[in-house]
Amino acid sequence: MKAMREIAVIGVGQTRVDEHWDKSLRELAGEAALAALNDARRESVDAIYVGNMLSGSANHQQHLGTWLADWIGLRYSEALRLESACSSGGSAFRAGLMAVASGELESALVVGAEKMTDSPNAEITATLATAADADWELEQGLSFVAINALVMQRYLHEYGWKHNDFANFSINAHANAMKNPNARFQEALSESGYQKSPMVSDPINLMDASPMGDGAAAAVLVPADTLASSHSPLITVVGSASATDSIAVHSRRDPLWLRAAESSAAEAYRQAGVKPEEIDFFELHDAFTIMAALSLEACGFAERGQGPRLALEGDIRPDGRIPIATCGGLKARGHPVGATGMYQIVESVLQLRGQASGVQIDGARIGMAQNIGGSGSNIVTHILKRA
Ligand code: COA
Repeated sequence: MKAMREIAVIGVGQTRVDEHWDKSLRELAGEAALAALNDARRESVDAIYVGNMLSGSANHQQHLGTWLADWIGLRYSEALRLESACSSGGSAFRAGLMAVASGELESALVVGAEKMTDSPNAEITATLATAADADWELEQGLSFVAINALVMQRYLHEYGWKHNDFANFSINAHANAMKNPNARFQEALSESGYQKSPMVSDPINLMDASPMGDGAAAAVLVPADTLASSHSPLITVVGSASATDSIAVHSRRDPLWLRAAESSAAEAYRQAGVKPEEIDFFELHDAFTIMAALSLEACGFAERGQGPRLALEGDIRPDGRIPIATCGGLKARGHPVGATGMYQIVESVLQLRGQASGVQIDGARIGMAQNIGGSGSNIVTHILKRA
């Protein structure tokens, strides 16, 4: 953070990502929030920030700040909800971070929560699409899968990759999720399973896409200098930045370059004083395999047009140069949209503590989490470090 107080994450909590037909959005959010407070050994906080995208239409509930404060017994705290499409969780975390780092607050609880499976998939698909450009993209009947399919089609055409070159992104995510009890899918994926998977929107097949799901994840933030010097392990946030791009993909000079990922990562690297080579793992936003490739390129892990090479050569695996989706990623842990950014933070904290909920990366000391809203139009990047 720029000239502000150093912030530590002292508690985390999460629910499993699943089709939670027996739990309401309120129960999921409350479960993650109370688990984080319990982990932090705190009973209260100065403020609550809730990241969520769809609750107004999917759950007929707005006003999530007050709603959650009331449910978890913190009725008189400050509380609000933040929405920036699929990066709502990351945006809420950054808001809580800035509030505590500035000195305005002494503590914050950040919760990402989403419940997608109470509504038919077609309804959720239509609601998700409202985060694209209604006049220029929705008007043409595009969904987010279709927008990403157009980008992937163009990518294959420009750089000469074959669809199968993306298989290892999904295979790695599924393999890592098998170690994560909180993941939506815990089945291995083979190359032939990837190839034979049903087509959703050419060239995106079912195994290129993240699933719908329900879940919540939460973290408690305090200034690091208020903790006892013996506090261990101390996990701090050393970089935080956010950037936007055009809301419609066709308005970009280069639709195959995530400029908001590049600039938010560059600012986070600058604040943290690290280079991409020093990042031990990267919780990226693999909502679709093409997004994983573009994110790796924009953040400096691969040359332009070379993202799939990292998957083909094993660099993204737990023992590779830049492990990604260590707990399954969006593809296999699941993507309850407004909660995803907070899952990435929780998984990063646990990874740095040496308590990964998925595959533990030996000696992990610096981790990066990047949450993408829309088709690359709102991107939040955080770098966390174990002292
Ligand atoms: N990967 C693996 N399996 C998946 C899956 C995925 N991404 N999505 C669904 N499945 C499985 C389900 O578990 C279910 O299995 P089962 O029959 O054994 O229970 C089966 O496929 C059918 O599930 P269903 O939810 O009915 O699938 P669907 O065909 O209606 O939807 C997608 C599949 C990919 C179209 C949908 O999940 C989707 O739109 N994903 C993208 C969401 C999105 O755009 N998010 C925002 C990104 S910016």
